[in-house]
Amino acid sequence: MTILICGGAGYIGSHMTRWLRSRGIRATVLDNLSTGHREAIGDCRLIQADLLDPAALDAAFASESFDAVMHFCARSLVGESVAKPLEYYENNVTGTLNLLQAMRRHHVEKLVFSSTAAVFGRPVTERIDESHPTAPINPYGASKLMVEHILKDAAQAYGLRSVALRYFNAAGASEDASIGESHEPETHLIPNVIAAVSDVDGRRLQIFGDDWPTPDGTCIRDYVHVDDLAQAHWHALAYMDRHEGAHTFNLGNGCGFSVKEVVQAVERISKRKVPYDIAPRRSGDPAVLVAASDRACAELGWRPTHTNLDDIIASAWQWHRGPGFGPRHD
Ligand code: UFG
Repeated sequence: MTILICGGAGYIGSHMTRWLRSRGIRATVLDNLSTGHREAIGDCRLIQADLLDPAALDAAFASESFDAVMHFCARSLVGESVAKPLEYYENNVTGTLNLLQAMRRHHVEKLVFSSTAAVFGRPVTERIDESHPTAPINPYGASKLMVEHILKDAAQAYGLRSVALRYFNAAGASEDASIGESHEPETHLIPNVIAAVSDVDGRRLQIFGDDWPTPDGTCIRDYVHVDDLAQAHWHALAYMDRHEGAHTFNLGNGCGFSVKEVVQAVERISKRKVPYDIAPRRSGDPAVLVAASDRACAELGWRPTHTNLDDIIASAWQWHRGPGFGPRHD
């Protein structure tokens, strides 16, 4: 079996690439390296190409026979999507349309798509399952939801099989700490807490609001280990062998942790104090986002193995302190 991993040099995609290859499954990465890292995929075949370039996609599909595609390419910063909506729709929607058209032309009929909890907008239930209403509050979430709709229509019209996986907060790093999260600029909580505790450029953590309607006033999120997300993609491939149509699954651990609880966990692991300030709320943030992933467990057979917040954060801590390709925090 050969899988084309679009966006396979990025944070989640590179863990997917490694996950497959460590199990003897052939993978080819297609990535424009705008945010991904060549070093993150070792000696895996890389096609450096952009989804906005249909000719390059045709060349990629003509170069090898693929059994399925995993699609991680996206602009994915909520705040940036509010400021640059057209870039987000072009990259995330037009890029995906180009990919789907190339898949049709080259008779590749299975896709695992990276979706997001941002499709739900402001939660109306405590834990979010797949029946929760979708009402995105930013262009990033809207662009991902548009693709989910496109996948449903493509299933009906062309028989394309797909699984859209809605990640909650991807976190952590590979067990050997050789690949991990490395964004520039970094906006995510855990790397920013680690940067602050590691005294990178004298940086202090900014906590975006302590007046949210939560027990300690800071936002609550569901952190899910990046290797557990990779495992879910593998189950999604098998699921598409058994099921026609377009399917969606929520992926989280089902436990919410506040920003301050994450800070405390980093302090336990690093044995240092995290310097922080309370800043204004960040626009586009919901107060609480926690997944109900019962459906992924029951139907995909997904079993997250990193369910303890300290373990997830410890893996990120190891990565940020190690000789990785990202910024070093000594
Ligand atoms: N936060 C801080 N300080 C920081 C960074 C984050 O206080 O320096 C807070 C945020 O306000 C939020 C929480 O930490 O309350 C988590 O923020 P992240 O940026 O790490 O992640 P998000 O919850 O914003 O992002 C996740 C997914 C997105 C998805 C979004 C939906 O990564 O793909 O949830 O809201 F779109």
